[in-house]
Amino acid sequence: EDEYRKTVSLKGKKVLITAGPTQEKIDPVRYFTNPSTGKMGFALARQAARSGAEVTLVTGPVSLHTPKGVKRIDVVSAQDMYEEVLKHFPHADLVIKSAAVADYRPKETFLHKMKKSPGEYAVEMERTDDILQELGKRKESQYLIGFAAETNDPEQYGREKLEKKNLDAIVINNVAEEGAGFGTDTNVSLFIQRNGSEKTYPLMTKDQLAEQILKEASQEMSGRDR
Ligand code: CTP
Ligand code: CA
Repeated sequence: EDEYRKTVSLKGKKVLITAGPTQEKIDPVRYFTNPSTGKMGFALARQAARSGAEVTLVTGPVSLHTPKGVKRIDVVSAQDMYEEVLKHFPHADLVIKSAAVADYRPKETFLHKMKKSPGEYAVEMERTDDILQELGKRKESQYLIGFAAETNDPEQYGREKLEKKNLDAIVINNVAEEGAGFGTDTNVSLFIQRNGSEKTYPLMTKDQLAEQILKEASQEMSGRDR
């Protein structure tokens, strides 16, 4: 562990991580969600805790064990996640948004189960708030890392998100690639920092990728402290 803490030194730092999908309810027995399993966010939380950080993990519904030493906060909807994350953001040193947040939610949530009837049924959806973009606006000294899940032109879309959301770095995943994206134990990624540094990470486990991301971030953060 001492060796590890030399490469990833986050001792005493407050790290805020989001993970998993969100669920957007339409009635008591139905919701919209996505295939995120939370593995990437949990790997980040585990590796950050290992490096001596004080870790808060805000997670959507997943079936994973809480890593040792991590403070876990469970949420369901994008709105719940928004509120929890904004509460913790002001005190954080490093923030990593790996959750797959719903972009839309049903405009109306019904109190009672909808009964089926013949013919088609359309659900009207409205936009959720973009948590990461809001953090980018409120950012002071926090080092802010976003994720981008893309299926085409990952680098271009990823760079646009880095700019638009005022991030310090972005982890771009081509989720159409073999061994990458939702549910897998591995990822293939491109890591771009605002300072111009660019790293391609070949196929590796999510824990290995987490370690790489934290290494880069902690180095950049200690450069700033000096
Ligand atoms: N994100 C967020 N709040 C949302 C939507 C996304 O905080 N309501 C964050 C994700 O956690 C991720 C980043 O924004 O860190 C990028 O998510 P992604 O879905 O790739 O991009 P979007 O900005 O939502 O754009 P699009 O889905 O149209 O590609
Ligand atoms: Ca999205």
